[in-house]
Amino acid sequence: MMRACCKGVLAALLLVVTFPGSAAADPPGAAVATAHPLATEAALETLDNGGNAFDAAVTATATLAVVEPYGSGLGGGGFWLLHRQADGHQVMVDGREEAPGAATRTMYQNDDGELRERDSLDGPRAAGIPGTPAALVHITREYGNRSLAENLAPAIRHAREGIPVTEHYQRMAYFRRDALRESPAAAAVFLDDGDVPEVGDTLVQTDLALTLERLADDGLAGFYDGAVAERLVAGTREAGGIWTREDLQDYAVVEREPVRGDYRGVRVTSAAPPSAGGIGLVTMLNTLAGYDVHDATEVQRIHLQVEAMRRAYRDRRLYLGDPDFVDIPRERLLSREHARNLAQSLDPERATPSEALEDAQGGGRNTTHFSIIDADGNRVGATLSINYPFGSGFMPPGSGVVLNNEMDDFATRPGEPNAYGLVGGEANAIEPGKRPLSSMTPTFLETDDRVAVIGSPGGSRIITQVLLATMSFVDGLEPEFWVSRPRYHHQYLPDRIQHEPGAISVDTRRALVEMGHTVRPMLRRYGDMQVVMWHRGESRMAAESDPRGGGKAVVADD
Ligand code: GLY
Repeated sequence: MMRACCKGVLAALLLVVTFPGSAAADPPGAAVATAHPLATEAALETLDNGGNAFDAAVTATATLAVVEPYGSGLGGGGFWLLHRQADGHQVMVDGREEAPGAATRTMYQNDDGELRERDSLDGPRAAGIPGTPAALVHITREYGNRSLAENLAPAIRHAREGIPVTEHYQRMAYFRRDALRESPAAAAVFLDDGDVPEVGDTLVQTDLALTLERLADDGLAGFYDGAVAERLVAGTREAGGIWTREDLQDYAVVEREPVRGDYRGVRVTSAAPPSAGGIGLVTMLNTLAGYDVHDATEVQRIHLQVEAMRRAYRDRRLYLGDPDFVDIPRERLLSREHARNLAQSLDPERATPSEALEDAQGGGRNTTHFSIIDADGNRVGATLSINYPFGSGFMPPGSGVVLNNEMDDFATRPGEPNAYGLVGGEANAIEPGKRPLSSMTPTFLETDDRVAVIGSPGGSRIITQVLLATMSFVDGLEPEFWVSRPRYHHQYLPDRIQHEPGAISVDTRRALVEMGHTVRPMLRRYGDMQVVMWHRGESRMAAESDPRGGGKAVVADD
């Protein structure tokens, strides 16, 4: 295994630094869209005080950790896709969690090889080593023009002063109440006498404020060494976890070259492995490029998109994992030739049963995304996660940090369905220091006259949400439509089209079933897409938050 410190240097040497269109005039203002009004306002405060998009991204990340403690946080990780307008430099900051050094391939199996399913979901054994704090330090130092303390100030303020409990908070807390009750420190912060607090109650996070202050004052050492690290390790180990001080000291973010593609003149820049997002998205677009999908009937269009989804998610299972541990045939998977090969088995009139291909795996059930463009044209799309709502539900005492359960994004028993009924592959088996495969897909879409930053939470359904939004971008539709359009999804296994209410009409469903598809309506809508867009040609900005969530999107004039 290559050491984390060297991986970043190597990846940095490989970065592509030019980008068409980078010389265009500046946007007429900034635009911010996040999943929570307080995070959007905090990011705008940073921009107002002289910060750039990268500083604002640090502020948004830290504030989301406080105001959406169920969706992301210092105890988790994420991918930050950056574009620096001055020189066109683009990079993905990989702050994904890492398996601890004592992790083993079979750590969630009993002596008979059966999965102990709750073990990778609840409590400290479910938690990978967090990457978000390291990413906050790295992005501020390498790309920001303010201090870390300035960028973290709004988050610290909200943690100390408290945030109001909302109905959404209540839903998330009900879902994870049992796990939270198992962790006295987490229960003391997130529950009220063991139960879900009332709407309007104030949630104060004093220990989290102190941990953020340590990070602000001491940088990396403020979290990965010293008193906070001591608490994290002692707390996890006392509760049966396997973290060590070395695991924390060894953690480093990795700069990775984004995945790039081109679909009908739209330049696509997206997340690199260990996200499956960019490769999945570009594979689907390359497959669809061979068809007249934009002028097709609704039935034909859904059929072709679903068949492209099926094949890309099959590839995900076969080939994708942490690129520092497995050889990913990246060039081949992204090639037009590979898409043509995939399309050879695609019947325009009939569904291909997934079992007729060779052999998907999904991500978690929570997560968050934000999109930012500043008035200089710098942009950030970031998708962040602790996996389940409130992650593992476990908080090491005295830290204020709720830990992720991202270990469940590994194939906890390769070849068999995981807790979601989704199948993981060998490339994503657990190894010490390895990063679990993700679906998070922060993405830039660009033509000469339009630039969009998009992304969404939604586990394994993230990649197909971004695909459908890309299709809408190509069709010239406004972001308002992309974020609100009803969604459908196929992930190879289980072999069915899942769709939101209203996404597929009765007639369309009948026609798809006649073509051999299994079509399953879902009871709930999914995703929480956040989009910002710069209409370069018209010198106009747009920003939209998904109506499914409670986010806030703002265009701020220069
Ligand atoms: N835990 C969600 C994802 O990374 O896909």
